[in-house]
Amino acid sequence: MRIGVRCISDIDVKSDLLVLNHYEGSKSLSESAKAADRALNGMISKLIKDGEISGKLGKITLIHNAGKLKVGKIAIVGLGKKEKLDLDAIRTAASAAINKAREIKAKTLATVIHGAGIGGLKAFESSKAIVEGSVLGLYRFAGYAKEKDPPEFRVLELILIECDRSKIKPIKAGAELGRIIAEAENHARDLVNAPSNKMTPTGFAKLAGHIAKINKLKFTSLDPKKEGMGALCSVAKGSDEPPRLVALEYRGNPKSKEKIALIGKGITFDSGGISLKPSKNMEEMKADMAGAAAVLGIMSLLSDFKPKKNVIGVIPLTENMPSGHATKPGDVATSLSGYTIEVINTDAEGRLILADAITYAKRRGATKMIDIATLTGGCIVALGDAASGIIGNNDEMIGQLIKTGNQNGQKMWQLPLYDEYKDMMKSKIADIKNSSETGMASPSTGAAFLSKFVGDTPWAHLDIAGTAYITKHSKYLAEGATGVPVRTIIEWLLNY
Ligand code: BES
Ligand code: ZN
Ligand code: ZN
Repeated sequence: MRIGVRCISDIDVKSDLLVLNHYEGSKSLSESAKAADRALNGMISKLIKDGEISGKLGKITLIHNAGKLKVGKIAIVGLGKKEKLDLDAIRTAASAAINKAREIKAKTLATVIHGAGIGGLKAFESSKAIVEGSVLGLYRFAGYAKEKDPPEFRVLELILIECDRSKIKPIKAGAELGRIIAEAENHARDLVNAPSNKMTPTGFAKLAGHIAKINKLKFTSLDPKKEGMGALCSVAKGSDEPPRLVALEYRGNPKSKEKIALIGKGITFDSGGISLKPSKNMEEMKADMAGAAAVLGIMSLLSDFKPKKNVIGVIPLTENMPSGHATKPGDVATSLSGYTIEVINTDAEGRLILADAITYAKRRGATKMIDIATLTGGCIVALGDAASGIIGNNDEMIGQLIKTGNQNGQKMWQLPLYDEYKDMMKSKIADIKNSSETGMASPSTGAAFLSKFVGDTPWAHLDIAGTAYITKHSKYLAEGATGVPVRTIIEWLLNY
């Protein structure tokens, strides 16, 4: 889809669909709709009066052009209540509008810049959110079916229109930024939606190498067995697919010793291992590499945005499978750090592979770390798909991430890392165990386990178990992978 910005008014623009907006509860027309209303002989104001145009967020009212406008049809999209308008509402409205365009087979869509000037929103932010909502909103996983039902229709062009010439430059910049970020997020979603037989550790590692090459990032691909990564290998033991650990490094500030490590859980399928999961919904465990996909997505954006920071992405990759040579509950693994781990539950495998990845990141000089992982079902119990859990040892970093997440429609909620949780992970026969017997407070005990390997390095752990993969369309995201938290981390890297 082409994305254009034009300095033109809604009554002059030519396109198959023109998108205007309306606020919920508002009696008057929005500024942008007034001229169009006149051209339509007051049709829009009549529909508002009749209550047909409600302004509810994401609700579309389609109007057929009676001839005076230069567009095929007009869609009035609801922006919700004016006082509640934020960037996520704009994304939602933009997604609803472009999905309507696809539904009615409109090849070109022209839209006004929703919300600019309301509540301090700048044209730059609004246009970025419109493009993000549109690109993310159109995404569907292509899948593998021979017969597509319904047959695919592509919207060819999205045109952002604005008649104030002074705003064109920021609108263009916002649109371009939004496009780059949303496309990277969609790429991450593709990896997560791919089934585990198509997205193996080897396949993922190859793709990471490819992405590193196009983006001129330093690339390392390691055989965990040769590196002494015993925790990662203990998870891989039950699988016929060989494990891998890859690292991609971006140096935006070569003079600085600071290095941020982004570490993504890359379990390409989590059956639970010998502590086998129930079969209901087990197919969703193809998404247990969402953290890895997010890290790859973020790394792929750095050469576009060029933040003046050094960033290393570290991705441990393996399947978690049961077999005659799988790790058994009670087994003890020796991690790369030298700490021994008693494996109580083979389904608590994410923390095992992250432990070695964290140690590796520290050896590569990480001075700050963020790990991203679909770590615990307990996080879904606590927060559902409304927010990711965030836990760590550095409140400043956590505060920055929460704020950035809120601005980007990717909420995070802090959970505690009390000493009690660390005590729950003490083993009688090893340095630490991977699961407490009770299973209580699993997001926090999981983080407590990771903290042993992190040590004092400033660190935040994002538990995206509930947010990485949704089973129902929500706002501007189709069911399946969401791409969380790619854009939040990018903005954080750019702003802090
Ligand atoms: N990958 C799962 C967590 C998960 C569950 C992610 C559902 C997405 C949806 C993880 O490896 C796991 O199984 N965690 C266990 C930990 C427990 C044994 C301490 C869990 O949450 O049950
Ligand atoms: Zn598991
Ligand atoms: Zn898992």
